[in-house]
Amino acid sequence: MAWQLSWIGQDQSTRNAGQPSEVYVNIGQRHQGVKLEAGPDVIYLDHNSTTPVLPEVEEAMRPFAAEIFGNPASAHAMGRKARQALESAREQVADLLQAHADEVVFTSGATEANNLAIFGLAGPAPGRILAAPIEHPSVVEPIRQLEVRGWSVSWGAVDGDGVFVPHQLEPTADLRLACLQLANHETGAIQPVRALAERLAGRVPLHCDAAQAAGKMPVRFHDLGVATLAISAHKFYGPKGIGALVVRRGVRLAPQLFGGHQQRGRRPGTEPVGLAVGLAKALALASAHLDARQQRLTLLRQRFLRVLRIQAAPVVLNGPETGGLLHTLNLSFPGCRADVLLMNLDLAGIACSTGSACSSGSLLPSPVLQAMGVGPDRLHSAMRFSLGFQQTEAEIEEAARRIAAVVRRLRQVPVQDEP
Ligand SMILES: Cc1ncc(COP(=O)(O)O)c(C=O)c1O
Repeated sequence: MAWQLSWIGQDQSTRNAGQPSEVYVNIGQRHQGVKLEAGPDVIYLDHNSTTPVLPEVEEAMRPFAAEIFGNPASAHAMGRKARQALESAREQVADLLQAHADEVVFTSGATEANNLAIFGLAGPAPGRILAAPIEHPSVVEPIRQLEVRGWSVSWGAVDGDGVFVPHQLEPTADLRLACLQLANHETGAIQPVRALAERLAGRVPLHCDAAQAAGKMPVRFHDLGVATLAISAHKFYGPKGIGALVVRRGVRLAPQLFGGHQQRGRRPGTEPVGLAVGLAKALALASAHLDARQQRLTLLRQRFLRVLRIQAAPVVLNGPETGGLLHTLNLSFPGCRADVLLMNLDLAGIACSTGSACSSGSLLPSPVLQAMGVGPDRLHSAMRFSLGFQQTEAEIEEAARRIAAVVRRLRQVPVQDEP
């Protein structure tokens, strides 16, 4: 597959002079690129945080800003036209996830979908909830709210690769809800959702946060055996502000918002038609090009790791060596401190992230890596790099060289502990 990188609006010399630029990357014959509005020299390795909207997605959404702007709840022709687009987006999303259209509830993203699922499935009387200790905060925090309401929580265990261990679970009578994500946001480890569902044997509803998995691996809702599943468009080259909760037919889900009859009362509020169309388009593209994107990412991952392992040794991969999300690499650079590294990488034009949460100006170690039993040196020097399928080998190797240079430099500076 031939790749071509075109700098639009400026030539290479002005680009290097530090002027803002736009980047288009084309795959083969068909333009599939994204426009990055980052500074000229920035290499974006933070695709698990968010991705750019693909041009085809932008184009699909455009008519819904000012042309087909009717409220899908209105009975007149303008409203009916909007409703038609909305329902066809819903059908498309359902098809791509192997679900039924009446099971798809549009939300503002995965955070809302996770909250809706957890509070909507929990019901008023407290019980016990089981969850993986590696869940995203948008799952962990609603669970903590349930704890405040009298629920008890069993945080299960993960192995050294960050994969949940379902056989340690005892589905006791008081167990009322379980949560397991499909792929981890920090390590890319794919979780045994189906195995957990089998263990629960339909006695306990299982919610699955598939925000990082959808668009990057096949997601077949009914095969997973879950009650609910959350996705988010901006994680797979769709727009921000739209996601969906897929709710298996027959599952009782209490609404968390009130004030309208939209989406059969499960999530009232005027539906964002253009965003729903964008979500459906992005998911359709991801599904149609899944194999090609995987091939690209396999190559990019290999190149990235090879350069780093030679030029920044020792480098430790946190998470599975194979079998995880291809574009996600959580790497520790013993001898460096993650917050210092992050800042220096930013200065070197590398956009990436630590899995750590910022609290009162200091970085807390990643709960995901802690649950994996990662030792202190690895824990405090871990960075998450998430690659994009449109990136070139040259770009990824350049990123790895820059990272290695920063790591080598920082290793010469003694690590200062927090006072
Ligand atoms: C695993 C996971 N769940 C949920 C979310 C939240 O998604 P959203 O930004 O759509 O609210 C994220 C975003 O980082 C995520 O990685």
